Amino acid sequence: MSDPVTVAQLLDRAETQLAAAHIVCGHGTATPRDEAAAIIYHVMGLQHENPQAYGRRVGADALRRIADLLEVRATRRIPVPYLLGEAWFAGLPFYVDERVLIPRSPFAELITTRFSPWLALPGHPRILEIGTGSGCIAIAAALAFPGSEVVATDVSAAALDVARRNVERHGVAGRVQLVQADGLRGIAGRFDLLLSNPPYVPDGELEDMPPEYAREPRLALAGGADGLALVRRILQDAPRHLQRDGWLAVEVGAGIETLERAFPQVPFLWPEFAHGGDGIAIVSAQDLTAAARQPFDK
Ligand SMILES: C[S@@+](CC[C@H](N)C(=O)[O-])C[C@H]1O[C@@H](n2cnc3c(N)ncnc32)[C@H](O)[C@@H]1O
Repeated sequence: MSDPVTVAQLLDRAETQLAAAHIVCGHGTATPRDEAAAIIYHVMGLQHENPQAYGRRVGADALRRIADLLEVRATRRIPVPYLLGEAWFAGLPFYVDERVLIPRSPFAELITTRFSPWLALPGHPRILEIGTGSGCIAIAAALAFPGSEVVATDVSAAALDVARRNVERHGVAGRVQLVQADGLRGIAGRFDLLLSNPPYVPDGELEDMPPEYAREPRLALAGGADGLALVRRILQDAPRHLQRDGWLAVEVGAGIETLERAFPQVPFLWPEFAHGGDGIAIVSAQDLTAAARQPFDK
């Protein structure tokens, strides 16, 4: 790239470079242009909402650093948030690296709208998140519900190290407790809300995923034969961990029909999202408990 160049010119070139490399977007960005912008704005410390940013000249150091990042993104297919060490979720920045899934769940929208109109919580809810990864859901929930107490679990000690860093970054260590646990095993007490974005990719689909996804921990994606291995355990164990008026919200992504077929007796709600995504099932503790009196699926 020849110098000098404006942000607008660099953005066009970078977009062309990434599109030509056939990168796959899906880690918080939708297009090669979004990815190019994420890299350029991050390196230059620019705000996306700043209308003057387009006309800024890119200095030689920034240009070199951006060129390096674009090259790595294009050739090694590393998702941008891992390259920058940062992902955004529910309007908040989170440190990420290859020990955790890159935050992208539609839970962000449910949390920022405080789950309205889908469910209502008491003033100071106790919230449990299973499979916290970077901690994004637990931390965003703690901030959306200022008087809440949150327990966030993960089976991966490495993921919990990342979550700890984010809990400290957002100043919620007093209200978000991180616990290493397998599903609900060893978790004590009852909660008003149980949240989980568990691994739910069916094993047979893992190998067909684009190279970007192979950078993420397999443990964060692999959901067993039909994708529901951990989801089944959560549904079965949840009634013992929920308050009578509590709620469960669990993400299954493209597994909506599989879940409906596996648990026909459970009246799941399926929120629609203004900002994209789907596949989060919501059910009340009472409906889940009533359904559990009938035999759950094989
Ligand atoms: C899809 S990722 C979600 C991460 C984060 N909550 C998010 O939404 O970005 C699933 C997480 O569940 C964790 N996990 C996998 N199996 C688990 C289990 N049996 N018990 C608890 N956590 C588990 C993984 O380590 C991973 O961090």
